[in-house]
Amino acid sequence: MVQLNLKSLLKVNSLSVSYRIKGAYIPVVDQVSFTINQGEILAIVGESGCGKSQLALALAGLSPKSARIDSDIDGDTMTVAMIFQEPLSALNPLMTVGKQIREGLAKKHLPANEQVIKLLSAVGIPEPEVRCKQYPHEFSGGMRQRALIAMALAREPDLLIADEPTTALDVTIQAQIIALLKKLNQERKLSILFITHDLSLLESFAHRVAVMYAGRIVEIATIQEIFNHPKHPYTSALINLARLQKDENGLFPSIPGSVPPPHEYPQGCRFHPRCPRRTDACAVEIPVLSGGNDHVWACPVVK
Ligand SMILES: Nc1ncnc2c1ncn2[C@@H]1O[C@H](COP(=O)(O)OP(=O)(O)OP(=O)(O)O)[C@@H](O)[C@H]1O
Ligand SMILES: [Mg+2]
Repeated sequence: MVQLNLKSLLKVNSLSVSYRIKGAYIPVVDQVSFTINQGEILAIVGESGCGKSQLALALAGLSPKSARIDSDIDGDTMTVAMIFQEPLSALNPLMTVGKQIREGLAKKHLPANEQVIKLLSAVGIPEPEVRCKQYPHEFSGGMRQRALIAMALAREPDLLIADEPTTALDVTIQAQIIALLKKLNQERKLSILFITHDLSLLESFAHRVAVMYAGRIVEIATIQEIFNHPKHPYTSALINLARLQKDENGLFPSIPGSVPPPHEYPQGCRFHPRCPRRTDACAVEIPVLSGGNDHVWACPVVK
């Protein structure tokens, strides 16, 4: 098991992100609290529409102007860098990759070209002296994501937020990017918040996992606990999905039902309409996170 230096880097206390939807402010991220420790990879998992990206944007200070943010975040003097699902749209097509990395360099006093070449080689781009003079369209999808990671590293961030960074890539390249992030975490003690809808990516990668459903965190635990002793029925459903393969039509299996839109979140536990273990009480009160030190979940039905 990986031993962590449990010094907290960022404490998020009751963060909400709301938008005006049909005349009222509706939270799409709703009173979310968690800690990221130094040198840790914390994963946020949940289906599409659960609020993962909205949470990430708020942490990076990149929320749109129309968002209302309520939060009490301890750690806002840190540098946060973010990488996204679609690397091409995050790169400037008219500027060489080297120049784009150079623009973000934190250490302005050191020779820029040397730093750029070091960064490109740190993210596994071969022939960095040649590659730095090329434009994004000359890079493959996996290489573009590596270039974006180099751009993020140039800023010397305390925290790297990676929002589905491998979803647009094929499986082999996906595994290479995950291995690269793991290496950067181990060698540079880089703290990473890794967002995905796919738990199966996390088994030998993340240290802890926060499971998000309909704007709220419903479980937080170490990766071993999540896989070996999941508590919340939603987490169990996600784990079952991660263990299943594509069906004969090439489609991934899914949990019956779907995540409701924020203005239709039900009373009580938001997962209860889809939950195999629901009781009448589940439709009344929103359960809060409770449990032990390194494992909390928001479901009073599961002990
Ligand atoms: N500008 C906005 N105005 C109103 N609602 C918004 C806005 N942006 C996002 N939302 C809503 O916030 C909710 C959470 O969206 P978010 O993009 O964070 O989901 P996600 O978990 O990242 O999903 P995915 O896995 O598809 O990326 C969704 O219901 C979305 O429609
Ligand atoms: Mg998203």
